[in-house]
Amino acid sequence: MPGEDLPPHRRQMAKGAFGVLLLSLLMVPILQPACQRFFSMASAYVSGTLSAAFVTCPNETVGKEIARAVVEKRLAACVNIVPRVTSIYEWKGKIEEDSEVLLMIKTRSSRVSALAEFVRSVHPYEVPEVIAVPIQEGNPPYLQWVEERVPAEKPAE
Ligand SMILES: *[C@@H]1O[C@H](CO)[C@@H](O)[C@H](O)[C@H]1NC(C)=O
Repeated sequence: MPGEDLPPHRRQMAKGAFGVLLLSLLMVPILQPACQRFFSMASAYVSGTLSAAFVTCPNETVGKEIARAVVEKRLAACVNIVPRVTSIYEWKGKIEEDSEVLLMIKTRSSRVSALAEFVRSVHPYEVPEVIAVPIQEGNPPYLQWVEERVPAEKPAE
């Protein structure tokens, strides 16, 4: 027994502390599954809730403007601007080659159509590229952060 060589009142305290320790050790196997269930529920990512959307822009100035606006409007949590991508496409019967920037936008799938509508309203191109793919999985705290940043519905103004 711990506390054998202590004065009686200290011995009592030591026994009490030992009891609490023993009890909590016994409780661990009981509490653990409950805790695990709680935490996995709190962070379980539902595949496809979020999307990565891609938008090409003519240059960094336009790219940054659109990136800032969509983050401010909470239509996206984060936008990465990839500089100097080369795009080759046919437009009105002619093969074009342009230097552009690419926006990699992390958002909610439920907000992709609102995002596309906003991009159409501010983008200099006649037909801007807006495509989105569902995010299957990822780092749970990151995905949770994106969900927190982007409301599932249009926020009240
Ligand atoms: C970026 O592109 C826009 C729209 O095409 C254009 O008006 C602007 O002059 C360009 N800016 C630079 C720095 O090239």
